[in-house]
Amino acid sequence: MIICFSGTGNTLAVARRLSEATGEHLYRIDSWQPKALPELAEGERLGFVFPVYGWDMPRVVKAFLKKVALPKTSADTYIYMVCTCGDDIGHTDRLFQKALARHGLQATSLWSVLMPDTYIALPGFDIDNSEETADKLREASRRVDAIAESVRLKKTQVVDVKNGAFAWTKTHVLGWFFDRFLVKEKKFRLSPKCIGCGKCAQACPLDNIAIGADQKPKWQGHCTGCLACFHACPVHAIDYGRFTKNKGQYRPKEFLPHTK
Ligand SMILES: Cc1cc2nc3c(=O)[nH]c(=O)nc-3n(C[C@H](O)[C@H](O)[C@H](O)COP(=O)(O)O)c2cc1C
Repeated sequence: MIICFSGTGNTLAVARRLSEATGEHLYRIDSWQPKALPELAEGERLGFVFPVYGWDMPRVVKAFLKKVALPKTSADTYIYMVCTCGDDIGHTDRLFQKALARHGLQATSLWSVLMPDTYIALPGFDIDNSEETADKLREASRRVDAIAESVRLKKTQVVDVKNGAFAWTKTHVLGWFFDRFLVKEKKFRLSPKCIGCGKCAQACPLDNIAIGADQKPKWQGHCTGCLACFHACPVHAIDYGRFTKNKGQYRPKEFLPHTK
């Protein structure tokens, strides 16, 4: 089983490739309400695949790991993590292991995969240009194939993550500040350019946007800050805080390009 959360779709493309390679079911975290998970079949792996937001797991992933009853595992269940990031992950891997430890579990292998950046809400942050995006996707495709092979063979003790410089400070100082002050759904602003197409609601992975009688989006109070709605708007009518006016919009690929 692959338990996956994805905001704009980068992580979903990675999880799809892993699911193809292992033949294992992709279970998406698509709500804050924990649902019962199916049991693992004999020998089935348990994978967790999610993006890094603010050098940590997305809020909804943290809530999921806190609340949900994970499927029963045995001593030889292969448990792994793959996280995607635009640059580096800080100590996300350690926080993930801590969250799993509360279930009495430990991942035996952990990877991070560099994908196109989707964070645009602060000055100095923007999406990658088209060349960088293509390069990242090509490299990610190769890397995820290699990861999928390791997962298929159940290779243990692989820790291949990009923590980056000042990893502890990024996660525990900047990340804390980020989560406390910068992930706030009241930061969304809608400009009169909105054409009421509802693409933002369709893009929201948590079904957190309702379209009102006036055809305009209304955020419902359970945002995890992924910015998928910002990126999906065809007329750039959604802003998030003061700094997203002239920022690029990332249109994710459903699948990673095949390199072979
Ligand atoms: C709110 C937010 C915070 C992010 N924080 C980080 C970060 O701390 N480090 C990093 O390398 N990338 C960061 N990114 C980039 C994403 O991790 C990366 O683009 C990821 O592949 C997005 O996956 P998704 O499309 O499944 O959401 C952030 C993106 C968003 C939207």
